[in-house]
Amino acid sequence: MGCNIAIDGPAGAGKSTIAKKVAGELSFIYVDTGAMYRAMALFLLNRKVDCSNEEEIGEVCTQADISIEYRDGEQIVLLNGENVNAHLRSEEVGRMASVSSANPRVREHLLMLQRGLAQSHDVVMDGRDIGTVILPRAEVKIYLTASADTRAKRRYLELSEKGLVCDFEEIRKDIVERDERDMNREVSPLKQAEDAVLVDSSELSIDAVVAEILRIYHEKVEC
Ligand code: DC
Repeated sequence: MGCNIAIDGPAGAGKSTIAKKVAGELSFIYVDTGAMYRAMALFLLNRKVDCSNEEEIGEVCTQADISIEYRDGEQIVLLNGENVNAHLRSEEVGRMASVSSANPRVREHLLMLQRGLAQSHDVVMDGRDIGTVILPRAEVKIYLTASADTRAKRRYLELSEKGLVCDFEEIRKDIVERDERDMNREVSPLKQAEDAVLVDSSELSIDAVVAEILRIYHEKVEC
């Protein structure tokens, strides 16, 4: 069994940037479970599955073969053998991922892959249900959050820097809707595990959050 650090939290809290840096500092593997749900969403969109049809999502999802490889330390998501990293970050895929990840069969399909990685490697794994469902015995659990305004501002800046035209209010609304779905679904809703440490990144720099998580790790564990 590897040493496991679970980082959960809402969209835009900075989980992936921070988890990647923490993994780099400790020479652990970074596992981005959101990318797996996004790959599933891409598969469903490509198959033109109606996002409101739960039964169809449940049936079609079993045909998606999703796996992970690491090349030069970067996580590559393979969907039926093809590297789909370049297609995972669009708003359309994110929205479909938020809807389809509420489906129990989608979650079941990805659970073994996530647990398998954590069993055979030292991992920093980020997502929504890592500390509560996927790795309930993780050595360190962090619940990383930030206010909806802060998260919307970060997303707005990120998109503007890429030269994309975007509307702050639209982004904020989308974040609030995504929180609502992620936190209130029946299966594996986003919530802080009882033994997770709450870290609010609203007023903290990335480096300060990384330092805080490393401090918590060193305090709790010598894996
Ligand atoms: O973290 P992200 O934005 O890449 O995740 C995309 C969607 O996948 C998100 O709306 C919720 C879902 N997700 C999930 O339900 N469980 C996880 N462990 C990771 C992501």
